[in-house]
Amino acid sequence: MPRSPHMSRREFVSIVTAAAGTVMGALIGIPAIGYLIAPALQKVSADAWIPAGPIANYPVGVPTLFNFNRTKIDGWVTTVNSFGVYIIQQSDGSILALSNKCTHLSCRVNWKPDASAYICPCHDAYFDINGEKIKGPQPRALDRYETKVEDNNLLIHFLGS
Ligand code: FES
Repeated sequence: MPRSPHMSRREFVSIVTAAAGTVMGALIGIPAIGYLIAPALQKVSADAWIPAGPIANYPVGVPTLFNFNRTKIDGWVTTVNSFGVYIIQQSDGSILALSNKCTHLSCRVNWKPDASAYICPCHDAYFDINGEKIKGPQPRALDRYETKVEDNNLLIHFLGS
């Protein structure tokens, strides 16, 4: 006997239930997937002007260490890194800002007034007050930061790590 072209009530209910389930799954699933993968797509720009306080805090001709932290978000990974900058205010009012990261293998250099040098404790690298290489295994001078002064406050241009 041929089948009726009309669908039974049972078939109709099954189809409507399946369609409703599919729509509900999509409504819940698509935002959930977006929520889960959004951090992986997120990148925070590291470029920033770091406030380093009043320029009066930095005596003329004396390397003064300023430390700051930067938070880096890369996907699900959040990292807090610390940085050190030696600020030297020159007698003409210009500012020299030197990274305290040794250009050999990234140990932290220290200003030693009696030696008139930044000295790296790891492999004995010496840099002069302007960050230029005196002696040691380092390939180049200390890195410099761009600076600006606004309303008597010093800002350091951080380009990321
Ligand atoms: S890391 Fe500074 S001399 Fe090697």
